Amino acid sequence: TVIQWFPGHMAKAKREVQEKLKLIDVAFELLDARLPMSSRNPMIDDILGQKPRLILLNKADMADEAVTEQWIRYFRGQGRTAIAIDAQSGTGVRQIAFIAKEMVKEKFEKMRAKGIKNPRPVRALIVGIPNVGKSTLINRLAGRHIAKTGDKPGVTKAQQWIKVGKEMELLDTPGILWPKFEDEDVGFKLAVTGAIKDEILNLQDVAAYALRFLSVHYPERLSERYRLDSIPDDIVALFDAIGRRRGCLTAGGGIDYDKVADIVLYDIRTEKLGRLSFETPASWT
Ligand code: G4P
Repeated sequence: TVIQWFPGHMAKAKREVQEKLKLIDVAFELLDARLPMSSRNPMIDDILGQKPRLILLNKADMADEAVTEQWIRYFRGQGRTAIAIDAQSGTGVRQIAFIAKEMVKEKFEKMRAKGIKNPRPVRALIVGIPNVGKSTLINRLAGRHIAKTGDKPGVTKAQQWIKVGKEMELLDTPGILWPKFEDEDVGFKLAVTGAIKDEILNLQDVAAYALRFLSVHYPERLSERYRLDSIPDDIVALFDAIGRRRGCLTAGGGIDYDKVADIVLYDIRTEKLGRLSFETPASWT
């Protein structure tokens, strides 16, 4: 979904999330495990404030496992709890309610101390930028299909609680926040992974960004996939080499660069190049 995030929309999205925060005990900050920082809202700490928060590194099935481990340690170092999940298949999803309960234990013990005998289920909200997998996770936790509201701040419907087992309730509408646009790298990484729709960016530029990244961080995957003896430093030469291997030729016999870009991005998004992570804690800081 293409969303136009204008300052007014951002302010409104922030207000809407903060309204929802009043209803819940714990927030699930959903990030893309392949690019946790680039898929994060730049104002998230300010927006969530002191609300207990569990970071969920989603799409871990597509990310480099070793790097995901580094991210989990990184967040732990910041005093946060983070776990890797795959909302599509459900891997890791069952821990969520247990950890959430643990995170609000003190609050609930205080409620008990005040004489509330049967505290209500832990109430939770999923927040994240578009395409990180919010509705997939809601459906997974609900165990059924929940209709998705438009990815637009301001498009509201009556909110409902979804039961997740006996001890957790989830708001059926997630908090939708904007990514960090000001950073060109962030935009490219979101585009490479398909989080930003292809129509708004030049595909050749996006593929060139991806190929430069892969040449440095995953060169062996490139040589294997496209049967290259060596990886040319020059990006046009790399497009040419892949194009020749894949028969991406124009009528005139030149290389069809759009076709090469399509193939490379398709291969990345469908794991033909294996599990990839586009940022590490070291590369970020
Ligand atoms: P959103 O509500 O945050 O906007 O995201 P949504 O759930 O719509 O998920 C965006 C895309 O990411 C969907 O793919 C979804 O299937 C995929 N996805 C979500 N979680 C995971 C995960 O843990 N692993 C993997 N591999 N993919 C995940 P899509 O191509 O837009 O749709 P479709 O292929 O499901 O039809």
